[in-house]
Amino acid sequence: MKMMPASLIAVSALAFNAAMAADQVDYPKDYRQWTHVKSMTLHEGHPLENPFKGIHHVYANAKGVEGAETGKYKDGAIMVFDLLESKTQDNASVEGERILVGVMVKNDKKYAATGGWGFEAWKGNSRTERIVTDGGKSCFDCHAPQKDTGYVFSRWRD
Ligand code: HEC
Repeated sequence: MKMMPASLIAVSALAFNAAMAADQVDYPKDYRQWTHVKSMTLHEGHPLENPFKGIHHVYANAKGVEGAETGKYKDGAIMVFDLLESKTQDNASVEGERILVGVMVKNDKKYAATGGWGFEAWKGNSRTERIVTDGGKSCFDCHAPQKDTGYVFSRWRD
């Protein structure tokens, strides 16, 4: 094979990075203004304690709420899993530091390999430190049994 000129290699690397960036899930800046779907506290001894011990709140944008009601998620639906430490204080369970923000973004074409959902998580309060390193495969593997409700666990309640 003929050697590729360095400039061409640089250009194809750029194109590759651009393709990766296009598929990257964006941090959901305004999710605290979205709809609260549910909350749950996982204590020690729960099978998902590592890494999900603490209190989490699930938020959805408008399309996400529609999906949680119908079990069918349209492109553009976003679900957020906001995980904070749970601390006992004065006989109450209260929120501590944020542990991570997990996100699922629906786009059937872009994320066909993981059920049409793009999975990403950010560490603590960071909006730049991404946690997912396998394209969301391990996230999806655990969500896969929820196929009948669009790979989403949370259900809408009034
Ligand atoms: C070992 C199983 C497991 C893994 C791995 C997992 N999740 Fe989940 N996820 C759950 C469960 C269970 C819930 C529902 C929690 C509830 O009912 O409050 C959930 C809920 C969510 C939600 C809220 C929407 C929904 O399905 O209810 C998001 C967003 C989410 N997870 C993102 C992620 C991301 C991103 C990853 C990978 C970094 C991930 N999950 C990995 C089990 C898992």
